[in-house]
Amino acid sequence: MSIVKDMNLAARGRQKIAWVKDFMPTLTEIGRELAAEQTFAGLKIGMSIHMEAKTAYLATILKAAGARVYATGCNSLSTQDDVAAGLASLGVEVYAIHGVGRDEYRHHLRLVLENKPDLIIDDGGDLLEVYRTFPSYAQFPIIGGCEETTTGIMRLRQLERTNTLPFPMMDINDADCKHLYDNRYGTGQSVWDAIMHTTNVLVAGKTVVVAGYGWCGRGVAMRARGMGARVIVTEINPVKAIEANLDGFDVMSMNKAAQLGDYFITVTGCKDVITDSHFLLMKDNAFLANAGHFDVEINLKQLREQSRSVAYRRDNILGYTLKYNNHTLNVLAGGRLVNLAGGNGHPAEIMDMSFSLQSLGLKYLAQHRDQLERKVYNVPTDIDQFVAWRKLRAMDITIDELTIAQRSYLGLD
Ligand code: NAI
Repeated sequence: MSIVKDMNLAARGRQKIAWVKDFMPTLTEIGRELAAEQTFAGLKIGMSIHMEAKTAYLATILKAAGARVYATGCNSLSTQDDVAAGLASLGVEVYAIHGVGRDEYRHHLRLVLENKPDLIIDDGGDLLEVYRTFPSYAQFPIIGGCEETTTGIMRLRQLERTNTLPFPMMDINDADCKHLYDNRYGTGQSVWDAIMHTTNVLVAGKTVVVAGYGWCGRGVAMRARGMGARVIVTEINPVKAIEANLDGFDVMSMNKAAQLGDYFITVTGCKDVITDSHFLLMKDNAFLANAGHFDVEINLKQLREQSRSVAYRRDNILGYTLKYNNHTLNVLAGGRLVNLAGGNGHPAEIMDMSFSLQSLGLKYLAQHRDQLERKVYNVPTDIDQFVAWRKLRAMDITIDELTIAQRSYLGLD
């Protein structure tokens, strides 16, 4: 039985799901084909991924393709209770309530696993981690799963290196149709959407510090510049630092940037990117937000220790007033993924591609189950290209195709 906050919210949740469907044509088309062939007939799929409308739509696609689907979130603050109820009303078993603590969140992950899924979708690696924590789960075999995000892939690669990966996993994040668009343009837009909505404060003319110039950081920096901000990038990788500089951004250490920023956005996948020495340097009323997967990038424990008071300032904003200089630092969404905990996540058109890859990745795992090892697999290039071609078609864009002579000239045949 589903565990959601309130089934009376289901109609609003279904409306949200219906809305995103209109902007996810590639997934809709692929879903139609999967449903026609009943790709997942007889299979159970367990999902731990941000419980919002695009994800819910993906769950309905998998269900229509024959699967029994069990879904929970991957961060209780990104769970939308109306969507959870809406999805439950559409026949998916849902265990997700906004804002629950760590124990209840993990309990929901366990409930997904208690259903003995054949395939899983993970976002950040928590479902897999819970699976590994309880040896009893190893008694039922999981064919494999798909991992959505950079941080989850880092955790998977560690398990692969130590030969402790319990079953095959597919790296959706590193497919071209994922990180090039989702991490860059998706995060770029949705982070600013959430920050502007949460703060109602101007971006133009401000100094924005972006920590991490990976795929997400590039998008966040690009969009900040587009809105008229002065952008500073901090990095630990010299190659990325040069790239950021040649892209036209100021690059410096966090120590230096801390004194200049009006907005700080961490998006590194690392921990302790902003810590006690930085807080003391910051301007009064600076905004701190994190877009990395876990809430470890801004050290809030240290910030609390340095504060003489912590006060509610606006929905999703806590003001930490420092003992040292009385400056108030505004932390958005509790240092969690700001675009999900304080917004609606990525635009639907972007998730159209990511979730097309997810559904085709699961199909690949199901079809190749006898040949797979306990490894992290990249998305096969033909699936990545297939999604790109389908997306282009949905966008009504036609491009040139190589002639036979050109293919031969390039050595492709
Ligand atoms: P990436 O690996 O492409 O980039 C991370 C960058 O951060 C690298 O250039 C690295 O050198 C830099 N970095 C690492 N430690 C640092 C530190 N201490 N200070 C400054 N820079 C540092 O990773 P990507 O794809 O950009 O993802 C970053 C994080 O965002 C991950 O946790 C990922 O899971 C998450 N993510 C969040 C999304 C969202 O919707 N908010 C969407 C996709 C990914």
